[in-house]
Amino acid sequence: MNVTRRQAAQRTDSDTIDEAADGNPKPQDLTGTPASLRHFEDAMLDAGTRIRRLGFKGGCVLLLSVMLSFAFYWHLIRYALVTPHTEDVYFLRMETCPACYGNDFCYHFTNSEVTFTGAYQYPIAHQLNPSKHVFEGRQGRYKGAPVVIKSLATPEQLERVQRGLCKSTDLQESHRCNMRDALWKRLSLGEDTLTLYDVRGENDFFRCPSQRLLDAVKEAFRLRDPEKPKRLLRNEEMSLLFTALVNPEPLLLMTFTSEKGWPFPRYYGACGRFIVVEHRGRSATDYLTAPLSERLLLSMRILQLAIKLTASDTGFSLYLNDWDLANFAVYPDTRTVTLVDLSNVIVVDTLQLNSYVSRQHHTTNGSKAKVDEVCDHRLSDWNLLHACSMLRLSLLNDQIADSQQVGDYLNECASAQPKRSRFQLAKLIIDALDKPI
Ligand SMILES: Nc1ncnc2c1ncn2[C@@H]1O[C@H](COP(=O)(O)OP(=O)(O)OP(=O)(O)O)[C@@H](O)[C@H]1O
Ligand SMILES: [Mg+2]
Repeated sequence: MNVTRRQAAQRTDSDTIDEAADGNPKPQDLTGTPASLRHFEDAMLDAGTRIRRLGFKGGCVLLLSVMLSFAFYWHLIRYALVTPHTEDVYFLRMETCPACYGNDFCYHFTNSEVTFTGAYQYPIAHQLNPSKHVFEGRQGRYKGAPVVIKSLATPEQLERVQRGLCKSTDLQESHRCNMRDALWKRLSLGEDTLTLYDVRGENDFFRCPSQRLLDAVKEAFRLRDPEKPKRLLRNEEMSLLFTALVNPEPLLLMTFTSEKGWPFPRYYGACGRFIVVEHRGRSATDYLTAPLSERLLLSMRILQLAIKLTASDTGFSLYLNDWDLANFAVYPDTRTVTLVDLSNVIVVDTLQLNSYVSRQHHTTNGSKAKVDEVCDHRLSDWNLLHACSMLRLSLLNDQIADSQQVGDYLNECASAQPKRSRFQLAKLIIDALDKPI
């Protein structure tokens, strides 16, 4: 139906009338001001009169308290949401140094070149989830490129290390033992005092003690700053010891570098209780449902990685003690596989083993095998046994394991007592997977 011009004019008029919910017009005063506005004006006049009655002193007190509460809320909002916390020395825990991973990368943090993205750019997200200690891919940036920022230990893990350290140095809780004092006390006085005795057996990295390994780590630590003196200073040794006790991952990354061909991410550096490493792509677990051809390719690369760790020409063999597919990352373009969690890697100095103990080690008893045995052998098939077992239960857990020849090799490699050597089996699997199926 057409609306006439008169009806439209009437509707426009009625729209301007202030109507209550029941359709009746709200009461208005003679000047036409709506009641709600009038109440507000009354309240303001009333407040004005009260403030005037406070007098000069009362007014000052009121003004001061308004300013204080404004400052308080402003700081709260700034701290929770606005402060660029990668520049905040307390957020980075720089004040704990030398009980920290180092400070060679602080310049990039304080210059805002390293940033958190997404929810973690807000300090409050870190406070709500204090146990989060890996900020990968989408959560960290260095000069705009994705990086992984790791704090390497949860507050509980740090607490445990502190308790152990305080106990070992006889600095009891009553003396308010802190990590810095305990590290200071743990090292003897003087220069270059960190010895094998301080770190041996503390974690997988130093499970098989070797002076050559400790020297290599010290040298890598020293080279983080090329202008440093020839020897590590006491503060740096304390920092090295702290890292060894909490999580040796940075020590491994800086000693066995990706530049030298090790299948690990590049290590950028540390600031306080954070380290920054190269982002190496998606988690290998994302490929569990990928097409078979992709899973076969990744399996082959993981086996090649296992061999690379075991048989290197550096005189060190590396054995992974945490075979979990989630600890591998895959670069989507090239399908390069990288080991990204180095918290549990055993390093064996094969040059220090004499000819009596240097024979090859065949890991028996499958998953119940004792890892310490790798310390006494020049070459162990530990990595291969665990790589085969992991692949059988993850990327290759379907038809391939039952129906194809690769499946037979894989089952034999993962069994407690294979008929052939696991090195031979790994080669057979790699050769079979290298051919198109
Ligand atoms: N350099 C990296 N590149 C890509 N992704 C990574 C990298 N480092 C870690 N990640 C991802 O973050 C996840 C968690 O990292 P990581 O395995 O080092 O820590 P974690 O297992 O939680 O800790 P822990 O050190 O106690 O073993 C990995 O499973 C991986 O998906
Ligand atoms: Mg892990």
